[in-house]
Amino acid sequence: MQRETTMDKCALITGGSKGIGLACAGAFLDSGYRVINLSRNPCPLNEVSNIAVDMLEEDWHRKHLELLLAAVGEPDQLSLVHNAATLRKDSADSLSAEALREVFELNVVAPLTLTQALRPRMQDGSSVLFIASTLGHKAVANSCSYVTSKHALIGLMRATCQDFVGTGIHTAAICPGFTDTAMLRSHIGTDPAVEASIASNVAFGRLIRPDEIAAVVSFCAANAVVNGSVIDANLGQIER
Ligand SMILES: NC(=O)c1ccc[n+]([C@@H]2O[C@H](COP(=O)([O-])OP(=O)(O)OC[C@H]3O[C@@H](n4cnc5c(N)ncnc54)[C@H](OP(=O)(O)O)[C@@H]3O)[C@@H](O)[C@H]2O)c1
Repeated sequence: MQRETTMDKCALITGGSKGIGLACAGAFLDSGYRVINLSRNPCPLNEVSNIAVDMLEEDWHRKHLELLLAAVGEPDQLSLVHNAATLRKDSADSLSAEALREVFELNVVAPLTLTQALRPRMQDGSSVLFIASTLGHKAVANSCSYVTSKHALIGLMRATCQDFVGTGIHTAAICPGFTDTAMLRSHIGTDPAVEASIASNVAFGRLIRPDEIAAVVSFCAANAVVNGSVIDANLGQIER
């Protein structure tokens, strides 16, 4: 008699308490993954396990390592979704080195340390997915630390791809455009005129829904063929 085997798939998502990370948590649950969230506030989805972490706290990954490894266990496949980030208004002519370092700590260094901590639990078919941004390969004014960190994150994805050759682990950087989340709203506010002006830069004339980005992330987890790719998910930005 043939025994039925179920694969144990686990997704560890940073910043799954809201926005794109929350949508990713839902998408991975729908695909049969156990989902673990790392953020300061819990993910509102009942099925998700939470580890409360402030990734700007010094040595956070060492302090939480035991808890992290216990939550992850020994899955057949592990997908890391490096999603948590901060977007601050700052400019190249006044951004302090200290402020840039802090943004790098969350947006770039945390993905590196988390990947290293969980690498021993990543078997063939696992993935390291980086939520970058359109601003990972172009720049706008007054977002210097964010633009710089997202360019670096794409570099980290490419380096990870090269250094993981032969491991069976694949990588990708997903670059969302204007997605309707708290992060975007904190930047553009809720004035419909401002929203319309932002949407006028998008070929489809609207903001992206977080679940549209989550569908791309979930596709990347399931398809190793994307290894090393930088994937735009922006509904088509109008170049002027
Ligand atoms: N929205 C857009 O238009 C857009 C466009 C391009 C790229 N992106 C990228 O997409 C990703 C998600 O953005 P979003 O728009 O969904 O943002 P969001 O709604 O502001 O969510 C950000 C997430 O990051 C977590 N986070 C922030 N600081 C943290 C810290 N110190 N420690 C632990 N977790 C922290 C937050 O959780 P807690 O507050 O609970 O800690 C939250 O879950 C980011 O990488 C962002 O750069 C977004």
